[in-house]
Amino acid sequence: MTNSGLPENFLWGGAVAAHQIEGGWQEGGKGVSIADVMTAGRHQVSRKITQGVQKDEYYPNHEAIDFYHRYKEDIQLFKELGLKAFRTSIAWSRIFPKGDEEEPNEEGLRFYDDLFDELLENGIEPVITLSHFEIPYHLYETYGGFRNKKLIDFFVRYSEVVMKRYKNKVKYWMTFNEINNQADGQHDLHAWTNSAIIFEEGDNKEEVIYQAGLNELIASAKVVQLAREINPEFQVGCMMAYVPVYPYSCKPEDMMASVKVMNRRFFYSDVHARGEIPSYILNEWEQKGYAIDFNCEDLAALKAGTVDFIGFSYYMSTAVTTLEEKKGFDIPDFPEAKIVSNPYVSASDWDWQIDPVGLRYMMNVLYQRYNLPLFIVENGFGAYDKLESGDKIHDPYRVDYLSKHIHEMINAVAEDGVELLGYTPWGVIDIVSFGTGEMEKRYGMIYVDKDNQGEGTLRRIKKDSFDWYQQVIATNGGNI
Ligand code: BG6
Repeated sequence: MTNSGLPENFLWGGAVAAHQIEGGWQEGGKGVSIADVMTAGRHQVSRKITQGVQKDEYYPNHEAIDFYHRYKEDIQLFKELGLKAFRTSIAWSRIFPKGDEEEPNEEGLRFYDDLFDELLENGIEPVITLSHFEIPYHLYETYGGFRNKKLIDFFVRYSEVVMKRYKNKVKYWMTFNEINNQADGQHDLHAWTNSAIIFEEGDNKEEVIYQAGLNELIASAKVVQLAREINPEFQVGCMMAYVPVYPYSCKPEDMMASVKVMNRRFFYSDVHARGEIPSYILNEWEQKGYAIDFNCEDLAALKAGTVDFIGFSYYMSTAVTTLEEKKGFDIPDFPEAKIVSNPYVSASDWDWQIDPVGLRYMMNVLYQRYNLPLFIVENGFGAYDKLESGDKIHDPYRVDYLSKHIHEMINAVAEDGVELLGYTPWGVIDIVSFGTGEMEKRYGMIYVDKDNQGEGTLRRIKKDSFDWYQQVIATNGGNI
């Protein structure tokens, strides 16, 4: 332990995902992925999902920030920043362009060989997500995405190939990014990005998503088992989005509503970590008459493939209430409760509520629930930045957000005894926003000169937060 209370080998890092950073969408034999058919939206304007790539649409992920060609210079900046870990994903469709081939694409494999070598040579540990919203488009067109159990085998084959190939280069893996985003089947975007699913006429959305989610959990468990055979040193985690939903008041029904809403999200990590489908979900399926398809072999796989750590993202919290006078968002299948704003915290320009203590709270809940090491693999502040003369970007709001979260993270470790492997804030370099497709919702400590219309030189410029984070890492969190 150092002064801050964090262990010496704490993995300070930065996080991105292949589709939000790489570009090169048709290079090196890459196939079209589900991210390649998503147009740009903006705050409160959804991204469109088009049938294939259309000529007259703008697709921000096609070029992204051109990391595919510029990763060497970017890694030099990461090294200067002092990163010990860099979290990215492997774009599945670089390795299996359509997703159902027998043989992988060698050129795609070579790209990640080179990328991981470059990171390692610069003292940066790659932390890899296997599926971060990048399922090959063909698997949607031909099989209907993860509603189809055939995708379990395709994912396992892809994972086996990359885990064998990079078995001496990558130690930390995660299977499905923010697998619980899709929890209530409410948002078409999440059904698409998590599972390559477009809802059809007559679908019960919640049932479809339970099936897809379970298929992914089975696939994940099979991959964990394989990973142990490939290299017993591997650490394989899940990746959850954790947005604590507080009871808005101490009215007992608000407390219960909070439990119910959180259970929908916990379902995924409960299966990942405990290897069983929890009773609250089995009861729900029975009561609702859902015919979720699974067999004894699937249950055995779940049991045998529990994860080594809980990877999670944390950006915000929210609240739920049954008080009739409160206005808020409806929750599907839960008419008596609404999601409402928390009056005790502020919010970003995209209405994400800023709650650093919520991170400490969530870390306590997760560690006590699973007794597994945690890894904060995303946390960050999306904001508009202004490039000023002399190549200056003053972003005190980002430093404020991150420092308060790091402070609470350290409290959770040093005071509450939570075991934490590392912290990789989101978008260490500006990238395309997943939710809106904007470039100008910026998270980075490194600015990328590109706007929402795709115009710009792609030049990289250090923000004030770069110097600040460099100090944080250099002092192992002693100087925040
Ligand atoms: C998480 C995702 O949901 O949050 C990332 O794992 C995403 O891919 C990040 O970019 C921030 O969301 P957004 O919509 O602001 O980009």
